[in-house]
Amino acid sequence: MKKNYAVIGDPIDHSKSPVLHQAGFVELEIDASFTAVAVRPENLETFMRTDFVGYSGLAVTLPHKETIGHYLDGVSAVAQQIGAVNTVYREADRILGTNTDCVGALRALETEVSDLRDQSVLVLGAGGASRALVFALLKGGARVMIYNRTIEKAEKIVHDFGGTVCPDLEALRGEHFDIICNTTSVGLKKWESPLPADFFVPDQVVFDMVYDPLETRFLSEANAAGARTITGDKMLVYQALEQFRIWHHRDLAPEVMEAAFFII
Ligand code: ATR
Repeated sequence: MKKNYAVIGDPIDHSKSPVLHQAGFVELEIDASFTAVAVRPENLETFMRTDFVGYSGLAVTLPHKETIGHYLDGVSAVAQQIGAVNTVYREADRILGTNTDCVGALRALETEVSDLRDQSVLVLGAGGASRALVFALLKGGARVMIYNRTIEKAEKIVHDFGGTVCPDLEALRGEHFDIICNTTSVGLKKWESPLPADFFVPDQVVFDMVYDPLETRFLSEANAAGARTITGDKMLVYQALEQFRIWHHRDLAPEVMEAAFFII
């Protein structure tokens, strides 16, 4: 029987999830649909209690990642620790939630870094994406420093997971980082960077979660300094691949979703 999946959020129009997963259905000849459904926060409960009956799984995006857990029968340890669910799936007669952003961030980093142990990492930003990334980095044995415009949010992540807070970027000038990650939205549709260009050095790994544009000012300046860069599509594709594995119990070649990413 045909299975239905959806990404829910508000706004949802620009989600790439449908095109990524549909590419997987075609590649592996899976009879399923994947749509984008706008669900307002006040309608989430009704959606989960009535509409969800027609779905085998959901991708969950803003603003529901922290609240959808209330309507599930269980949440994975990873999602619990990160405090956010981005994937809902059925197991027997239970509705469960997990978080694939963490695996997505790790796989994206692995395209340039083979071992995170003892790597010094500067993470810019302290929102939901940062939480998933910092959790993954610390699990991998990295030493993490977090800088955020609103220092309290960085302090909360450090309190929950570990690492250290950087109160002032200027104090870091001249310090060496093996890896620098941007999890802020600075650079999204704008030629702006969250970090002065002189922070970049040759052979450093620089990762941007922004994927519109793919070549952000942050990555462009890192490239110019001789750093090795990772574009935002990688995180998006790898977290979706992990969702695909959870829902269909099958592995899909990353290239299939990578190609789909560039369709629109
Ligand atoms: P996500 O779930 O994608 O991480 P988010 O939770 O809204 O999204 O987090 C956005 C991040 O980008 C935050 O770290 C935010 O900083 P604040 O915590 O100070 O709000 C950061 N950010 C957004 N716009 C910014 C800007 N103009 N300058 C610096 N940081 C910015």
